[in-house]
Amino acid sequence: MRKNIVAGNWKMNTTLPEGLQLAKEVNDALKGVDAKCDVIICVPFTHLASINGVIDKNRLGLGAENCADHVSGAYTGEVSAPMVASTGATYVILGHSERRQYYGETSETLKEKVKLALANGLTPIFCIGEVLEEREAGKHFEVVKTQIEDALFDLSAEDFSKLILAYEPVWAIGTGKTATDDQAQEIHAYIRSVIEGKYGKEVAENTSILYGGSCKPSNAKALFAKPDVDGGLIGGAALKADSFMGIVEAF
Ligand code: PGA
Repeated sequence: MRKNIVAGNWKMNTTLPEGLQLAKEVNDALKGVDAKCDVIICVPFTHLASINGVIDKNRLGLGAENCADHVSGAYTGEVSAPMVASTGATYVILGHSERRQYYGETSETLKEKVKLALANGLTPIFCIGEVLEEREAGKHFEVVKTQIEDALFDLSAEDFSKLILAYEPVWAIGTGKTATDDQAQEIHAYIRSVIEGKYGKEVAENTSILYGGSCKPSNAKALFAKPDVDGGLIGGAALKADSFMGIVEAF
C-alpha cells in the first residue's frame, strides 16, 4: 500500500542555527502525536549533517532539495548524491519548478539526477506541474504526462516504485492560490493513470503522489481526503513548526 507523506521544503530559508531550532521543534512536536503519515523535512545542504544529528530518524525523515547530475569531479559549487547520502539524509527533492525555471533544469539533467539519487540510496521526491498559461490553455494533463515520460520512463518498474511524486501547479506555489481539492484529485488520478499505462496497476496504486502549492493547515484536510492525494509537499507553511504540524495532523 502507498504511504501518506507530509514533506517540508524549506527552500533557501533559515541560517544553520535557525534551521537546527526548527528541526528540533518539529522533532519534539512529533513525539507528542500519533502521526498517520510519514513526515520528512527537506533542508538546505549546509544544514543536513547537523540536523541529522538532532532528529529521531524513526520519526522524521531528512532530505536535500536538489543534487548534482554528476557523481563527482570538476563541478564547482555542486553537491552530489553520494555527498547528500553521506550526511545521513535519505530523500532528495528533484525537478522542483524553481529549479526548472531559475536554474534551467531539463528532463535530460533530471534523468541523470534521478538515477544518481537512486544509485546512492536516496528516495527522490520528483516534482511535476504546469504553469498558469498551460493550465488556462487546458494543457496541464499533457504537460505533466510529458514531464513524467521524459524524465522517468527510462526507469525499470522496480526503480520507479522507489519514487515519490509531487504534483505542484506552479501557479499555486507561494501564491496563496491553492488548487481546489477537486482539481488536485482530477490531475492526481490522471497522473496515476499515466503511471499505470507504463508500469501497470500495482506500481501505480503503490506510488505516493503528493500535492504542493500553498498547502496549509486550513486546506490540507480537504486535499488529503481525496483518494489520489497521498499527502503534501509544503513550502511556506513548513517554516513554522506549528503550521507544519497542523498539516501533519490533517491526516
Ligand atoms: P508553498 O511551496 O507551499 O510555499 O506554495 C510548495 C513548494 O514549492 O514545494
